[in-house]
Amino acid sequence: MTQAPETETTQRDYPALLREFDLFNPAHEEWKYDAFAYAREHCPIVRTEAGTGFWLITRYEDMRRILEDHQTFSSVQGSPAPTPVRLGPLDADPPVHTGLRKLLNPVFSKTFSLRFEDEMRANCRMLIDSFIDNGRVEILGEFAGPFVSRTLARMVFDEDDQDKMAAAIHVTDAVTEEGTPEAFFNLAMLSAAYLAAALENPPEREGVLRALVTGEIDGKPVPEEEALGSLNVIFLGGLDTTRSSIGNIVMQMAMHPELEQRVRNPRWVRSDMDEFIRQQAPVCTFARNVTRDVEVGGIRMKEGDRVLIRFDSANRDDKKFPNGSQLQFEPPRGGNAGFGLGIHRCLGAHLARVQIAIAFDELLARVTNFRLECAPEDIVWKPGIANAPDRIPVTFDKVC
Ligand code: HEM
Repeated sequence: MTQAPETETTQRDYPALLREFDLFNPAHEEWKYDAFAYAREHCPIVRTEAGTGFWLITRYEDMRRILEDHQTFSSVQGSPAPTPVRLGPLDADPPVHTGLRKLLNPVFSKTFSLRFEDEMRANCRMLIDSFIDNGRVEILGEFAGPFVSRTLARMVFDEDDQDKMAAAIHVTDAVTEEGTPEAFFNLAMLSAAYLAAALENPPEREGVLRALVTGEIDGKPVPEEEALGSLNVIFLGGLDTTRSSIGNIVMQMAMHPELEQRVRNPRWVRSDMDEFIRQQAPVCTFARNVTRDVEVGGIRMKEGDRVLIRFDSANRDDKKFPNGSQLQFEPPRGGNAGFGLGIHRCLGAHLARVQIAIAFDELLARVTNFRLECAPEDIVWKPGIANAPDRIPVTFDKVC
C-alpha cells in the first residue's frame, strides 16, 4: 500500500480508524501517517483493539517516558505479534538483557564492524558490477538486500569454508528476497546448526558465536534459548532495517536531486544519515507489557496492558522536530529515536551506520543522478514491524 503524505485536509474519521489500527494490515499503511498526525494533536495515547489490543503511543515525550522505564514497561513477550521463538535482548528485561548486551556490544562496536570493511566494499563492488551496464537497478533486491545479508552472514557465522559460506548467504538472501515462513525457518535451522557446532567446538576468533557460547550471564553459560534467540533477532533486526534505509536514501535522492551532493560529502554520516533514519524510521514499532497500574499522559494503564511504541510517529512529532514529516538537515536535529532509546537502543546501530556509509561511498563512486522508474506514490510499503518498501526501481547515469 502506498503511504499518503500527511495532510490536515483529508476527511477521514481518524478516531474510528485508530481504534481498529492493525499494524499487519496492508490497507492501514495508506493512512497511518495521517492518523498518527491526528492522534498526536487530539488523542496522543489511543486504544486499538486489533491483535492483542494496545495503547498506541504516538508522541515523542510519552515514548521516551516509557522506553526509559523498563521496570514498568517490560520487553518480555514484547513482540507485537505472538512469536514461538525468543528474541534475545529484544524481548528480555534485566538481568538477562544486561548480560546479553554485555556479551554482544563488543562484537557490534564500530571498530569491530570496520574489521569487515574490505569485504563489505568488495561485496558492494561485485553487486554494482552486476547492474551498472543496465543503467537501472531495483535497489532493494539487487543491491541493498544482498549486501546486508552477506555482511551479516560473514559477521555472524564467520565461516571460512567458501561453499558453506555460499550456502549460508543463499539462506539469508532468501529471507530478504522472499521473506516467507519457510525462509525464516531455514534461517533458524541454520542458526541452530552453527550454534550447536560452536557449543561443541567454541570458535577461537572473536565474534557473535564465540561471545554467545563462551560468555556467561550471572556466572552461568548463556541459556541455549537466549543464544538462539539472539542469533534470530540479529538477522531479523539487521536485514530489513539497513536494507530499507539504503533504499529510502536512494529514493529520496531520486526525488530530490540536490540531496546527492549532501550524500557525496563524507561528513554526511555525522548527522544527515540520522535525519534520513528519523524521517522514515526503518523500525516502525515494538511493544511493551505494563507490569503495574500506571498513568501516562493522563491515561490510566493497568497491569497486563500492552503498549505499542510508534517510533515512526514519535520521530515525526512536530513538538520535538518542527515540520517533522519533512527532511531538514540544518541545523542538525538531536534526539532522534530511529535506533530506539533506553536500554534496548539498537545493538546494531554502529554496524548499520558503517554499512550505509560504505554502500553510498561505493555506489556514488560509480553512479550518479538516480531517477525513480515509477511515481513515488506507486512505491508499495509493507505493513509490519519494519517500515520497508517492496521494491524501489531506479535508473541512473554512470559516473564515467
Ligand atoms: C538502520 C538500521 C536499523 C534501525 C533503524 C534499527 C532500529 C532499532 C530499534 C528502533 C530498536 C529498539 C527496539 C525497541 O526498543 O523495542 C532496535 C533494537 C535492536 N536492533 Fe536494530 N536497527 C537497525 C539495524 C540493526 C542491525 C544491523 C542489527 C544487527 C545486525 C540490529 C539488531 C538489533 C537488536 C539485537 C536489537 C535489540 C536490542 C536490545 O533489545 O537491547 N539492528 N533496532
